[in-house]
Amino acid sequence: MKISICGKGGSGKSTIVTLLARAAQKKGLKVLVVDSDESNSGLFRMLGFEGPPLPLMELLGGKAALKKKMNLPNLFEKTEIRIEDIPSPFIKEKDDLMLISIGKVLQSLEGCACPMGVLSREFLIKLRLNENEIAIVDMEAGIEHFGRGVDEAIDKILISIEPSFESITTAEKIMSLASGMNKKAVAVMNKIPSKKTVKTLAESLKDDLEILGVIPYDPLVFEANLEGFALNKGKAFDEAKKVLEALLRQ
Ligand SMILES: Nc1ncnc2c1ncn2[C@@H]1O[C@H](COP(=O)(O)OP(=O)(O)OP(=O)(O)O)[C@@H](O)[C@H]1O
Ligand SMILES: [Mg+2]
Repeated sequence: MKISICGKGGSGKSTIVTLLARAAQKKGLKVLVVDSDESNSGLFRMLGFEGPPLPLMELLGGKAALKKKMNLPNLFEKTEIRIEDIPSPFIKEKDDLMLISIGKVLQSLEGCACPMGVLSREFLIKLRLNENEIAIVDMEAGIEHFGRGVDEAIDKILISIEPSFESITTAEKIMSLASGMNKKAVAVMNKIPSKKTVKTLAESLKDDLEILGVIPYDPLVFEANLEGFALNKGKAFDEAKKVLEALLRQ
């Protein structure tokens, strides 16, 4: 199963990716986290790795000399990509939790990020998973990934919604873009301080948006992201476990 997490910038996408990945790992699944966000680079830290993987972008002639030196195969010449096909500098792995990154914008004036969107799309289309494997994709903020077709091969689109007007608006746009691709998007509320907020947020959201869970505002999450310790306990983690079960059931 391929799950993507999308939503407004800062709504908690990477946090939810981390929580779901830990929950899936605990359940005994092999988890491939795909970092498809071309701006932020801290996901490796949130997942407990010491450094980021080399971006897959480098396989496509990114740094030709490096490619030659390492004698790397062109992954994208294959019609199907399996996790074990991804060469080691491009994948980080620890205890069945794996991380890859598509590419990052590193320099000013290096051009737009569209090629990374194309690569994300191609990778996700070609990625073949076994029954015991799950891919969790950290999408770039906003809705541009829909325009680039990155969501085409995704089985479940999960929207992260924080209690803000902008987050609600983005969620509605995502719902309509997903349905334009004949896909159903579901949602999770995040950074929720009180029951009253759940009620207000639910009233503001479209009735046909299914909410799979409510992740509370949890200082442990904030501290874990800041200090870099594993997010595998606490209220937010418990709720993420429920969200994962609901996603796997659907
Ligand atoms: N449930 C939560 N409780 C407390 N803090 C949270 C929660 N979820 C996210 N945060 C905090 O909110 C901030 C943004 O979260 P995160 O980086 O996961 O969002 P994002 O959607 O991935 O952002 P971006 O769009 O920049 O990639 C972080 O400081 C994170 O620690
Ligand atoms: Mg993020």
